[in-house]
Amino acid sequence: MGFLMLKNIHIFSALISFTLFFMRGLWVMRGSAMMQQKWVKIVPHINDTILLGTAIALMISIGQYPFVEAWLTVKLLALVAYICLGIEALGLAKSDIGRSLAWLAALIVFLFIVSVAITQSPFGFLYSFML
Ligand code: HEM
Repeated sequence: MGFLMLKNIHIFSALISFTLFFMRGLWVMRGSAMMQQKWVKIVPHINDTILLGTAIALMISIGQYPFVEAWLTVKLLALVAYICLGIEALGLAKSDIGRSLAWLAALIVFLFIVSVAITQSPFGFLYSFML
């Protein structure tokens, strides 16, 4: 598979990941029955596997890796933060306010990851605050 195709799949599944996480956060906060739908429990995992799979394939095709290139290290660590915050937002956090704050923080971290990807700089959008 070509580089552009891989990258398009990566970007598309990132978009799906964001949309699904955004919606699931709203459903959890509203106590919606949507969270019990079978596809809602399955599709995010399939999609996130595609996101990670294409990330690995992209790294191999450009020959850049986390813990070698700073922007990829930051991307990987920010992804771990996004996952942890997501787990809090969709279940673990004990209070509504805790879940809402974790959800908001996860969305901001996600946008940060996108900015790191686009700029290929470890600072991403934070760079604008440093000038
Ligand atoms: C929530 C997680 C992620 C999101 C939202 C995301 C988003 C993006 C976006 C938008 C691009 C295209 C950037 C551009 O061409 O302007 C991209 C490219 C890329 N991403 Fe990700 N990504 C994520 C996770 C990862 C992870 C974990 C890795 C590996 C550690 C990774 C590795 C790459 C690579 C190697 C490219 C290609 C860069 C290039 O064009 O040379 N991504 N990502």
